[in-house]
Amino acid sequence: MRIVSASISGFRNLKEDSFEFSPQVNIVLGRNGMGKTNFFEALNFFALGRSHQGSKTEEIISFDSDSLHVKLEVEEESGHKFMGEFGLDKQGGRRIKIDGEPVSRRSDLVGKLATVFFNPDSIALVRGGPRNRRHFVDQSQAEIDPLYLTNLTAFNRTLRQKSGLLRDMRKGLVNYQKGQLELKAWNEELASYATDICLGRNEYSQLVSPYAHSCHRKLTKEEKPFEFVYQSNLESVKKHLSGNQKKHSDKSEIEADILSELDYISKDETKRGRPLVGPQFDDFEVKLSGLDLRVYGSQGETRTAAVSLILARGDVLFERRQIRPVLFFDDIFSELDRERARRLQEMASQLHQVFIATARQDDVEGWHPDQVKTWKVNEGQISQSLPNSD
Ligand SMILES: Nc1ncnc2c1ncn2[C@@H]1O[C@H](COP(=O)(O)OP(=O)(O)OP(=O)(O)O)[C@@H](O)[C@H]1O
Ligand SMILES: [Mg+2]
Repeated sequence: MRIVSASISGFRNLKEDSFEFSPQVNIVLGRNGMGKTNFFEALNFFALGRSHQGSKTEEIISFDSDSLHVKLEVEEESGHKFMGEFGLDKQGGRRIKIDGEPVSRRSDLVGKLATVFFNPDSIALVRGGPRNRRHFVDQSQAEIDPLYLTNLTAFNRTLRQKSGLLRDMRKGLVNYQKGQLELKAWNEELASYATDICLGRNEYSQLVSPYAHSCHRKLTKEEKPFEFVYQSNLESVKKHLSGNQKKHSDKSEIEADILSELDYISKDETKRGRPLVGPQFDDFEVKLSGLDLRVYGSQGETRTAAVSLILARGDVLFERRQIRPVLFFDDIFSELDRERARRLQEMASQLHQVFIATARQDDVEGWHPDQVKTWKVNEGQISQSLPNSD
């Protein structure tokens, strides 16, 4: 998949302009604060239906404008091209179109343009709290299995209802007997969704782990085993997924066991006024030669591990949906050693269209991929820098 061209107006500090990209490597150079990240944010907005950094609409629209508009021409793996467009205005208006047709639901966008984003925060995938790993797996699993997203959304909605009930019970706003009955009903629903979520997370970690190992080996030229392992918060799930459980458990058995576990803990939950167990507390181990990188990883090891996992996400997407996402690297090479950085650039650009932003020319010096375009960013003005132009 690749972004063929783009036109951008009213987006943060970017000057209104159009661009034709290289199908392979696009290097974006510019000093700090010139607009590199903004440029990537504009190119990614359509893929996600929101800002990759979680910014609000009014922050993204240029200070000097009332609305923004971004139009992208995207070429799919089959060679088929489509036009993706989105517009936002300060009154809260929002339009997304594909080939001129309005798209109302964000879920209709998922996967239309697949992108993967690396930035210095990507290290949080390994170093940060479990929420980062859950988010990574949830997003990745959702892009290969839309039903997973439906279940996850339903699970979260139900969990909010159960949490509200537990709070009210603790405050004495709900009759105890009635509360227990309601709790039982929520647990039944939760057990059903949780089964799909836990199985989905387990499946995804098993899928991505060998690819991540392979990326890690290529990046480091080391043979150390690298693993990404699902660590369920539910004892009932752990029991079913444990290595010595050879026979595949029946889904209904898992669901029944999850329900027993939820019901068993509900007395404590009522006392504390909040849910105490469930997939909302799941985590994933990131192991290098058996050592837990979440705890023991060095800066560079952690960063390489995060990059391997994110790259592997692209491999899974290709295995399952024959899609190669567009890769964005925002300012991450200065943090890797030179050899790893160069191997990453080579590896990524062999199979994917890549966009690389950096404030340091050094990061890409001496690298001559076949098809490369270099863009210079200066105060929001992005211009193609032709060979020998400087
Ligand atoms: N809504 C907006 N309107 C106009 N300018 C904005 C808006 N939002 C942010 N900016 C400005 O855009 C500028 C460029 O930001 P950006 O993050 O893209 O820089 P960068 O090139 O990635 O820098 P760095 O190398 O430091 O990461 C910032 O100076 C910021 O103040
Ligand atoms: Mg930046």
